[in-house]
Amino acid sequence: MQGPAVPRVPTPRHYLMCPPQYFAVDYSINPWMDPAQPVSAKIALAQWTRLRDTYRRLGHAVEEIEPQPGLPDMVFAANSGTVVDGRVLGARFRASQRTAEAEHFRRWFTEHGYRDLTMPEKVNEAEGDLVWTGRVLLAGTGFRTDPAAHAEAQEVLGVPVVSLQLVDARYYHLDTALFVLAEATDSADAQIAYYPAAFSPGSQRVLRRLFPDAVLATAADAECFGLNGVSDGRNVVLPLEARATGLGEQLVRRGYEPVYLDISELRKAGGGPKCCTLEIRK
Ligand code: ARG
Repeated sequence: MQGPAVPRVPTPRHYLMCPPQYFAVDYSINPWMDPAQPVSAKIALAQWTRLRDTYRRLGHAVEEIEPQPGLPDMVFAANSGTVVDGRVLGARFRASQRTAEAEHFRRWFTEHGYRDLTMPEKVNEAEGDLVWTGRVLLAGTGFRTDPAAHAEAQEVLGVPVVSLQLVDARYYHLDTALFVLAEATDSADAQIAYYPAAFSPGSQRVLRRLFPDAVLATAADAECFGLNGVSDGRNVVLPLEARATGLGEQLVRRGYEPVYLDISELRKAGGGPKCCTLEIRK
């Protein structure tokens, strides 16, 4: 059982983002993407700008990578790199439509002085499927990232990896079904939120064992991309709809402060706040 809400302490973050200047849904590589549905790059850019400005208002550093024509999903920067302790593991996309994004991000890291950079051999959609808890790297597979990339990530980043099996095509990336509210410290485990039904029975047992105190999300929380939140340890950026689904309320009871943003246009491509946000951990 949870005790009374404890004051949560935010820590300053460093993010890399890509403005959705060329945002579109011209192909479909996940169940949310319907090329027949109208989408507006202008609305996406306005929503993205509020997300970026929210991070800055909360005291976080945001850097931007230049968007590229012909790469409509490049706004989902989280898929292009995993950075732990200043060590960068690049990406290798499953879909040919996104392949070229990996090289733009590799160049950005190189030009910004990240010397310890490895490009993966196995399909690896970065923070989409690799979630750092402060102690272990949770690694999703089933739709995108190759399970062999989990071992590769462990070797390259030098952190313990726990593999998790995703089973619902709507939650094709781990970061659509789980996120970290507060990273592990020397004395406490990480606190996470997740949607159990997105995982195989074995992976659900793994999550229960590792995180007995996790926030359990409902189908409604997951459907609005509520598990694609971004937390700084106190402030939790969530899609607007998560105010009504109960997720925001659960977080408030645990001492977190939800910050609700409209991300509806980006959701048409199957993305939310976290997908747009690559965290640089130095
Ligand atoms: N349309 C993109 C894709 O299917 C969305 C990526 C969302 N990113 C994420 N980190 N879940 O690849």
